[in-house]
Amino acid sequence: MKKLIVNLWGVLSRPSKMALGLLLGGGFIAGAVFFIIFHFTMSATNSMDLCISCHEMDGVYEEYKKTPHYSSASGVRATCADCHVPHGKTFPDWLSKIYVKATIGTKDIYHHLMGTYDTKEKFQASRYEMAQNVIKHMRERDSKECRFCHSLDAMNLAEQGKSASRKHKRIMESGDKTCIDCHTGIAHEEPEEPEDPEE
Ligand code: HEC
Ligand code: HEC
Ligand code: HEC
Ligand code: HEC
Repeated sequence: MKKLIVNLWGVLSRPSKMALGLLLGGGFIAGAVFFIIFHFTMSATNSMDLCISCHEMDGVYEEYKKTPHYSSASGVRATCADCHVPHGKTFPDWLSKIYVKATIGTKDIYHHLMGTYDTKEKFQASRYEMAQNVIKHMRERDSKECRFCHSLDAMNLAEQGKSASRKHKRIMESGDKTCIDCHTGIAHEEPEEPEDPEE
């Protein structure tokens, strides 16, 4: 009996690496799960506050405020999540949303906590790459988030400029291009490709 107590005490007082690992890993997962639940329960405007709480300093918010997606004659606003968080009613939409929240969301928090981009300069240096990620993701979704507000069907081509109506008519017929192929830089200044230091 005494031996058992001694052994048990030994285990409890000297936690093994594995136990420590489990504890830390568990803590991280719990944090991620909490963030996801928290995120799901936020309404669109609140989650914009959430986004801004981290993205005010880096410039993306300032730039967005100068675009018609923030304020326009018609008073329709596209919030960060309207463009950046997949939504929709189908199962793949839901999976896509969970995927973005669980991966990009946790990555955001991780880099924030680690202070990876704690200055505007550091953020600027990585912007091009981030923008490419975003564009790739939107392309994979065939610009679905844009299409919740804009649809080719609802466009009055006669009211559009010549180049817009010609391009839109073509994609209606062929369907070979998606909105984001032509419309980058609509909510933020589009970052330029960094020069290759080798050259
Ligand atoms: C806890 C702070 C924090 C919050 C809250 C936050 N972000 Fe981020 N976000 C970051 C950081 C740090 C990065 C850069 C690191 C990275 O690649 O994830 C980033 C990167 C991004 C990127 C580039 C992603 C990529 O694939 O490279 C997008 C888009 C983005 N955030 C949108 C949002 C939106 C939309 C919200 C609100 C729903 C939001 N963020 C909330 C800190 C945050
Ligand atoms: C929540 C609704 C909403 C979403 C989502 C949205 N937009 Fe818009 N968009 C608008 C509104 C509102 C305007 C301004 C209309 C006006 O008053 O002329 C606009 C304007 C535009 C314009 C013309 C002005 C400009 O900045 O060049 C383009 C192009 C455009 N949107 C493309 C897109 C693309 C591409 C996406 C997806 C990445 C997108 N929009 C997502 C609502 C939205
Ligand atoms: C092949 C290129 C191309 C594709 C693909 C494309 N557009 Fe355009 N779009 C243009 C051009 C060119 C203009 C006119 C210049 C501008 O505003 O950028 C334009 C203009 C617009 C405008 C402003 C119209 C106005 O007169 O105020 C909106 C809104 C818009 N596009 C939305 C979309 C949406 C949504 C999609 C996806 C369903 C899309 N576009 C796909 C080329 C394209
Ligand atoms: C109308 C759609 C739209 C809205 C609204 C929008 N974004 Fe974006 N965002 C984009 C697109 C498209 C890109 C890809 C790069 C580009 O074209 O500028 C992007 C890129 C980004 C990036 C990557 C870095 C960069 O500069 O490209 C971050 C971070 C980001 N957005 C955060 C936000 C935050 C935070 C908000 C709200 C304050 C927001 N976005 C609102 C469409 C949008």
